[in-house]
Amino acid sequence: MAFKEKFLWGTATSSYQIEGAAYEGGRGKTVWEDFCSRPGKVLGGQNGDRACDHYHRYKEDVELMAQMGITSYRFSIAWSRILPDGTGAVNEEGIAFYSDLVDALLKKNIIPFVTLFHWDLPYALYKKGGWQNPDSVTWFREYARIIASRLGERVKHFITFNEPQCFIGLGHVTGEHAPGNKMSKKAVFEMAHHVLLAHGNAVEVIRERVPDAKIGYAPTSAVPIPVSNNPKDIDAARKAYFSISSEDDNYMWNVSWWSDPVLLGRYPEEGIRVFAKDLPEIRPEDMKIISQPIDFYGQNIYHGYPVRSDGNGGWEMVGRNEGYARTAIGWPVTPESLYWGPRFLYERYKKPIIITENGLSCHDWVSLDGKVRDPNRIDFMDRYLKALNLAAKDGVDIDGYFAWSMMDNFEWAKGYFERFGMVYVNYETQERILKDSAYWYRDLIQSRGRLLEET
Ligand code: FCB
Repeated sequence: MAFKEKFLWGTATSSYQIEGAAYEGGRGKTVWEDFCSRPGKVLGGQNGDRACDHYHRYKEDVELMAQMGITSYRFSIAWSRILPDGTGAVNEEGIAFYSDLVDALLKKNIIPFVTLFHWDLPYALYKKGGWQNPDSVTWFREYARIIASRLGERVKHFITFNEPQCFIGLGHVTGEHAPGNKMSKKAVFEMAHHVLLAHGNAVEVIRERVPDAKIGYAPTSAVPIPVSNNPKDIDAARKAYFSISSEDDNYMWNVSWWSDPVLLGRYPEEGIRVFAKDLPEIRPEDMKIISQPIDFYGQNIYHGYPVRSDGNGGWEMVGRNEGYARTAIGWPVTPESLYWGPRFLYERYKKPIIITENGLSCHDWVSLDGKVRDPNRIDFMDRYLKALNLAAKDGVDIDGYFAWSMMDNFEWAKGYFERFGMVYVNYETQERILKDSAYWYRDLIQSRGRLLEET
């Protein structure tokens, strides 16, 4: 078994997707309430007002996590529960909720992994310009300071941002996610720079308050998978991974734009060239803040795409076979992405990697005998984790894996139509049922991953 003894076996969720209680506990409005209330934005006109009602049922949910034997749980904090208007007075009820959740986790020996921002921006801040406002950097720093001061004695693992590509790209380029805008490239690059500055500021302030903290970041990527082991194809895939996409509407989907500044202290040259006319002023002192040392590099990886050498030192995409395997949401099943992604990222950034999300949606339902059978999820996770184990064997430093998701939840613009959980949620009754995959994961964790090599 290549995984470390202290490998983190986790599951992940996010505040807006599970908590519900959107108008309780002093929580302020977020951009997602506003977005969901707009006709046609979310499938079925659904929203996260109630979601999994985790706000009221967190004890039961932690009990389920304990039954699954996970060693760590990644959740996000709703900024507007802590600071209803995004800045100003702290809402003690919000602090109490997360503090109690942390206590419940620690009691079960589950390590809390706190994500500071998983897309639910306080609406009051959006009204002030959101991420386009340069003050967003200090708003976020202050919010991070409060979390570190209030929870830092018990929480030692922090993730600043989840998938900036999505809340900036889907939120402000295509408008498919909250706040649902289509902005100019100039505005988008300005926001992206503020987000990176906010990240660096948060790292700095958490480090000050919690010197023994482990701090990371969780962007996402689709991974180019070389079609063969020929070094030319491998090199082509590597090039494709870090290349800059300038295609319309896709230009925020970059690995290097979002990670080189954080881990290498500079924006990628190709991007500076391609985006030149739309970039804000980037000062050398900005890069210093953005590249505050972090402890682990999180990455959400769900799938990849085949790539080969074009014969001229470049790369080209290869079409998929007809009828290729895909999940209920339509994403291709590509276990190799959990080999090549970590390998390429580790080569370039040389930071321990944590897979902060990976998983699939299935159209699960409850069988007549009351069980939820999800053989596809088991097979998917088995294959992906085997690939990750192989990467570890080949020398990639991997600290952990968080399955998305702990439980079925509100899948953003797809509402409740997609089920990503290892725990089934009946949204009418809020009853939870461990799916077969939850038991499979429990056994795998108990074996400390050894089952991956025995089957
Ligand atoms: C990721 C998000 C997460 C969830 C999964 C399916 O992009 O970070 O909240 O929606 O996809």
